[in-house]
Amino acid sequence: QTVRIIGAPMDYGANRRGVDMGPSAIRYAGLADELADAGVEPVDSGDLLMPRAEERDPDASQPSEGNAKFLQEVGDVCSRLSTQVAETIADDEFPLVLGGDHSVAIGSMGGASQTGELGVIWFDAHADLNTPETSPSGNVHGMPLAAALGRGAFGELEWAHAPAVREESVVYVGLRSIDERERELVRESEMTAFTMSDIDERGITSVVEEALDIATSGTDGIHVSLDLDWLDPKAAPGVGTPVRGGVTYREAHSALETVSTRHHQEGVLRSMDVVEVNPILDERNETATLAAELTASAFGKRILGSGD
Ligand code: ARG
Ligand code: MN
Ligand code: MN
Ligand code: MN
Repeated sequence: QTVRIIGAPMDYGANRRGVDMGPSAIRYAGLADELADAGVEPVDSGDLLMPRAEERDPDASQPSEGNAKFLQEVGDVCSRLSTQVAETIADDEFPLVLGGDHSVAIGSMGGASQTGELGVIWFDAHADLNTPETSPSGNVHGMPLAAALGRGAFGELEWAHAPAVREESVVYVGLRSIDERERELVRESEMTAFTMSDIDERGITSVVEEALDIATSGTDGIHVSLDLDWLDPKAAPGVGTPVRGGVTYREAHSALETVSTRHHQEGVLRSMDVVEVNPILDERNETATLAAELTASAFGKRILGSGD
């Protein structure tokens, strides 16, 4: 299957801090070669055009309640992204979205959900479940799962294509930083949250196997969202919201290898995004390199060659 790379150099969801350079940095780090090593043929669609930041007002289109900076710009980009993701899947290709901040996942999931029931695995330090009403920062990159579920103001925004996923089909892996209101929501909801403590106790492979079982049950395909701040900042320093105590380099590879093994067996993957790489904060493009390598693991690259 052809893997179609779609660059989404978005930073509106993270308050403009350099994360818009993520797609270039990941390509520069050798994504295409890494994917070729995994035995897949990548095709690059280039980058989505971004509105010009210098002409934009963060508060131009605030929701009636709460705070969501640059909501109009995020909506504009995500609506084009969801169309492109949906068309890619309709063409029987695999959409690989390069962020950009995590708000791009609203577009990825909105597009991927148009082909049938979607499961989601969220590899992230954060829950990203705030709504404009609950967000402490007003940054939309802390809200993409709330948007996909159609919570709060997102239920009324057509471009969010909500609900793109049902609660019972959402699984967190590696959660360790959660706002008070998000914590209540996760506990009350039917989502599954595997925290870093679960990984400590059970090991990464067993946790990811179960995450796959849950996300594939009753769905037609899964979306994998990989936020690089999922990893420990020692392994992935180039992110805007680092949280210590994350997964190691080896655990991360093992997790994505587990995903690819299941994909080879059952064809479960429908789409993926790789987000939050910030070259300005990075050390010698290390985090972008890691992003490229982990993506290759997700598509079957192995130490002794591709496949299982
Ligand atoms: N929970 C915090 C917020 O809402 C941080 C979110 C970080 N999200 C991310 N995709 N890096 O602002
Ligand atoms: Mn995060
Ligand atoms: Mn299954
Ligand atoms: Mn995130």
